[in-house]
Amino acid sequence: METLLLGSSEAELQIAANILHQGEIIGIPTETVYGLAADASNEEAVAKVFAAKGRPADNPLIVHLSDFSLAVNYTSYIPKLAYKLAERFCPGPLTMVLPKNEKIPMITSGGLDTVGIRVPSHPVMHRFLEISGLPVAAPSANRSGYPSPTSADHVMRDMDGKIYAVVDGGESEFGVESTVISFDSDNSIRILRPGCITREMLLEICPDVVIDPAILNDIAEGQRPASPGMKYKHYSPKADIIIIEGTLEQFKEYVSDNYGDGVYTLIYDTDAEGFPFRFLTYGKDSSEQAHYIFSKLRELDDIGAEKVYVRAPSKEGVGLAVYNRLIRAAGFEVIAL
Ligand code: TXA
Ligand code: MG
Repeated sequence: METLLLGSSEAELQIAANILHQGEIIGIPTETVYGLAADASNEEAVAKVFAAKGRPADNPLIVHLSDFSLAVNYTSYIPKLAYKLAERFCPGPLTMVLPKNEKIPMITSGGLDTVGIRVPSHPVMHRFLEISGLPVAAPSANRSGYPSPTSADHVMRDMDGKIYAVVDGGESEFGVESTVISFDSDNSIRILRPGCITREMLLEICPDVVIDPAILNDIAEGQRPASPGMKYKHYSPKADIIIIEGTLEQFKEYVSDNYGDGVYTLIYDTDAEGFPFRFLTYGKDSSEQAHYIFSKLRELDDIGAEKVYVRAPSKEGVGLAVYNRLIRAAGFEVIAL
């Protein structure tokens, strides 16, 4: 099958919606990363998403809606706190895990009795959700294990020939996937995956916000994390990624001792002047690093990097999301100097 590249006009979004109604799957832009979209209520369509990505069957998909008020149609219980969070953060990069009802098939929820609900703010995705009128299951549109796509071109590279169409809506604004939260009780939440909606932002609405330990740590063999996605090596380019914690001087000294063919570095913009080794930069602060991290990981493959030493990002605010993705890309190989 030849994958169609669609623009974001009303007519093209109508075509995209028709494709979904026929049980086929497409790439679609969101404000975080591009998604691989299917009708969340259609088991066969959702199976095509798992197949195209090569995704393990126990890793659940997020269901996207045009408005949080529609969540009642797909869930069996919504705490008041969820409505308060929605008022502040929906539409936007927040996913709330809630008990699902029978309209969401088990294949979509990876066998769990909960479903992640998200209301994206990207105008193209939002309009697409309105036109289709469907609950749209959409994981990131990368092949399982690879860096998430932040442009239509990334999706084409991973999915060409496997899906019907990709809608081009430009570069994703945030660059890392949504913050995923669950409810420990009616009044307390847990961050399962960090994103651009930070713990500090959530604390403004909810005084009790726990960071799930799986965010920063490797999951032991056989252990079951609250967010199944956290147990897989992930976001990984072909190159071997190694995170280095320490000052710029320590970083330079370490690279100097370990330099050779195929070795590259990924550093802050502010480190670049006079930097003596092969390098790419990934922004000067956490927001920029979130925006660039996945495209830089892909670029490192394009230029033939075999081993990449990365200057560790901050773990504060949005930095926690960048750090979380990078330690998974590195298979938890972190060297503290
Ligand atoms: O920003 C995003 O969330 C993007 C865009 C396309 O919306 N989507 C995305 O989906 O990142 P995906 O499938 O690549 O990641 C979903 C994450 C996984 O880590 C999964 O385990 C977790 O959310 N998740 C989904 N449903 C869950 C549930 N019911 N319980 C716990 N974790 C869940
Ligand atoms: Mg993903």
